[in-house]
Amino acid sequence: MTEPRIRVLFVCLGNICRSPLAEGVFRHLVSRAGLADRFEIDSAGTSGYHIGDPPDPRTTRVAAARGVPLTSRARQIGRADLDGFDYVIVMDAENLSAVRRLATRSAAEVRMLREFDPEAEDPDVPDPYFGGERGFETVHDIVEAGCVGLLQHIRHERGI
Ligand code: 4NP
Repeated sequence: MTEPRIRVLFVCLGNICRSPLAEGVFRHLVSRAGLADRFEIDSAGTSGYHIGDPPDPRTTRVAAARGVPLTSRARQIGRADLDGFDYVIVMDAENLSAVRRLATRSAAEVRMLREFDPEAEDPDVPDPYFGGERGFETVHDIVEAGCVGLLQHIRHERGI
């Protein structure tokens, strides 16, 4: 019997900077660990500002330079996602409030990405949208550290 896939959804505000990056980085890590067929990985935004858009070119550029392709299109999170995914991983406290407003209860484990980075000094992944290119490098580092810790957490929790 094949095991059900572990479903992970990354969430930010616009779904064009931080969460598509987390989706791509996490997929890359999972694939490198030989676990690609065990996971379903997606991302969404709490807003509908950018529905249908590809990731921000600045995010894509920095990720590509580090060997991480980004191919998602923005969509807005819905209430059903909170039951359809096992892990809903938000980027900041504002995203967390927005997700909690969608549903008071959820089957998913809803957590902030930086909880999984033992070195994190701030609980939020900063929003790079209105900043310069350098912010995207920093955000990439932050997201990568969180995704490494998240994968460790899930592997431990699931015994894989
Ligand atoms: P993200 O960044 O939440 O990391 O995708 C943003 C993208 C767009 C906007 C805000 C944040 N916006 O206001 O359009």
